[in-house]
Amino acid sequence: MKKFPRKSSSAEEVFEKLRDCASRDLNPHTGRMWGHYYATGKPDLTDLARKALLEFMDKTMLDFTTYPSILKMENDVVAMIADLMNGDDSVVGNFTYGGTESIMLAVKAARDLFRKKKNGIPEIVLPSTAHPAFYKSAEFLGLKPVRVEVEPETFKVSAEKVNEVVSDRTAMIVGSAPNYPFGVVDDIKGLGDLAVDHKLWLHVDACMSFVLPFFRKLGENIPDFDFSVEGVSSMSVDLHKYGYTPRGASVILHRNAELRDNHVFVMASWPGYPLVNTAVLSTRSAGTLTASWAILHHLGQEGYLELSEKILKAKKKLLKGLPKIGFKVLGNPESSLLAFTSAELNLFILAKEMGRKGWYIQAQPGSKPLGYPKSIHLSISPYHYEVVDKFLDDLKDGAEAVKAMPKADVMEMLRDIDLSSKDLIESIGIKDGELPEDMTLINELIHLMPPELVEDIFRKVVNEEIFRVSRG
Ligand SMILES: Cc1ncc(COP(=O)(O)O)c(C=O)c1O
Repeated sequence: MKKFPRKSSSAEEVFEKLRDCASRDLNPHTGRMWGHYYATGKPDLTDLARKALLEFMDKTMLDFTTYPSILKMENDVVAMIADLMNGDDSVVGNFTYGGTESIMLAVKAARDLFRKKKNGIPEIVLPSTAHPAFYKSAEFLGLKPVRVEVEPETFKVSAEKVNEVVSDRTAMIVGSAPNYPFGVVDDIKGLGDLAVDHKLWLHVDACMSFVLPFFRKLGENIPDFDFSVEGVSSMSVDLHKYGYTPRGASVILHRNAELRDNHVFVMASWPGYPLVNTAVLSTRSAGTLTASWAILHHLGQEGYLELSEKILKAKKKLLKGLPKIGFKVLGNPESSLLAFTSAELNLFILAKEMGRKGWYIQAQPGSKPLGYPKSIHLSISPYHYEVVDKFLDDLKDGAEAVKAMPKADVMEMLRDIDLSSKDLIESIGIKDGELPEDMTLINELIHLMPPELVEDIFRKVVNEEIFRVSRG
């Protein structure tokens, strides 16, 4: 087991170890990752973010009375995003450390408003494509998720179907703009009408929406999804994705302060300082807020428009190129995210093959029992415009290579695996806390098994195998 080092190390030694530690990591700045990083291809932007972050890194957001600059920057950032999302002067909000935190605050607010009026377990109505952060929030905060399947061709939720499950237990209904798996924007207008008619809390998960206002300016047909829709109560908008800020940056917006009142936490009945929290976290560095403030000002609408145009151009090449290779794009993605599938070739092996060529593409295992397709997800970044042609060439070669391989017989792969066995974890290739390099088998299992079983196994693997004290 690794011990707490007795001796000090020099900064050089520490960095040498850090670099060694990162030797197998992908480099997010290469434009080769179609997920997890939103590369702009602008080193000056990354530099600016780092400088701003470092300058305020040691200042805490714990207590808004400590540093006037931080309170000002938070209010500025919220105002800028409220403006982008067509909010008027009554819109309020707060800076958080990520989409999950923004969503959790909205869910807490809706739950507490529900509790002011009603008893019983509050429900949250979710399109099947809603981000798991809602399920996590429901689990943490004691709500019951009610899932509505999205339409099979469009991957959008139907407001009528949401209406069918709305009841006096409903504390919140949700729409995504866009959803993560397929990049399509739900019918927010339809949900908004429902929210107005039934006086419901409608949260729009706009964590991935930052490009949408700019796509609209570039002539794209973007359905209304923000505070311009009357029934929208709250929105989660991430900066650390298509706002191109460092990780740990999102905003929760409420239509008015009356709604936000339900998310604020205050505690003054202890001997210490009164704790006043407008976020889930308390002590946190102001670095990412400062970097966000700096980047929003530095890029301005002009800069975001320019970057969004690159994304759009890359996306158009993909929408043309993917079908030529034999792939089907799922739904009609209005945003910068898309998913494609194939009836012929094994997408999980394709993901591995592309990995060999130095590309990261994200396998979405879907779920056979739930009727969700297997697909590959691409989050398109501005930098991808520079590399999209090469990507499509490599994808074509990769697809041909996979086709030429003897067809992977999934049943054969699964034959020797006894799902009830305690050796299951080893038999799917997880050994000494390490995941196998080839995730094909694991992805096939996720696709085939009942999701509750997948969840149980994941919990066990993560708890008992992956996050263990390191031996090295
Ligand atoms: C649509 C959507 N909502 C919420 C989240 C959660 O955001 P975070 O990972 O910042 O907590 C994500 C993350 O990808 C997302 O795509």
